[in-house]
Amino acid sequence: MKILDLEFVPYISQTQIQVKVNELSARITVDFKDKDPLFIILLNGAFLFAADLVKEIATPCNLSFIKVASYSGTESRGKVDKLIGLNEKINNRNLIIIDDIIDTGLTMQGVIDELQKQNPASISVASLLYKPDAFLGKFTPKYIGFEIPNDFVVGYGLDYNGYGRNLKEILKIKE
Ligand code: IMP
Ligand code: MG
Repeated sequence: MKILDLEFVPYISQTQIQVKVNELSARITVDFKDKDPLFIILLNGAFLFAADLVKEIATPCNLSFIKVASYSGTESRGKVDKLIGLNEKINNRNLIIIDDIIDTGLTMQGVIDELQKQNPASISVASLLYKPDAFLGKFTPKYIGFEIPNDFVVGYGLDYNGYGRNLKEILKIKE
């Protein structure tokens, strides 16, 4: 399938995503039962993953949607501008940051550093995708859907210059 100037091929199916997301929800529910977790959802990329993930969380929780930006085209710019839209008090809360993909991890590291300043009780990271070969961060991503090689992917929230976010499945760039 063509998106703008690039050709993409099927990679992770809707069913594979669904099964994995439900597994992650079950793990998080067990780990955060009665811990009043606050999910910090990173827009735009995490919107579909977060929606499916939190629907299956079976313990009371809060959600906060924030925005950061660090990507342009298919290259990470590797720097967090800042957190927009964090209105909740997070001190002494158990935070679970939800993102679509951890590539260099610099975005997530920047978000963690910002949140850390407000003394939360704990910070965990949930990401649908993780590219270990590109990772430069210091944190350990605890809840990972799929580890993938360094290929550019789109769909299920992930975009190529704004397109492809609405796709049900994940596609990767054709070699
Ligand atoms: P990082 O700071 O390099 O970890 O990049 C994180 C952000 O870059 C993610 O939240 C995505 O928005 C975007 N990103 C990284 N890799 C990809 C990809 O393969 N496709 C689409 N977006 C990506
Ligand atoms: Mg993102």
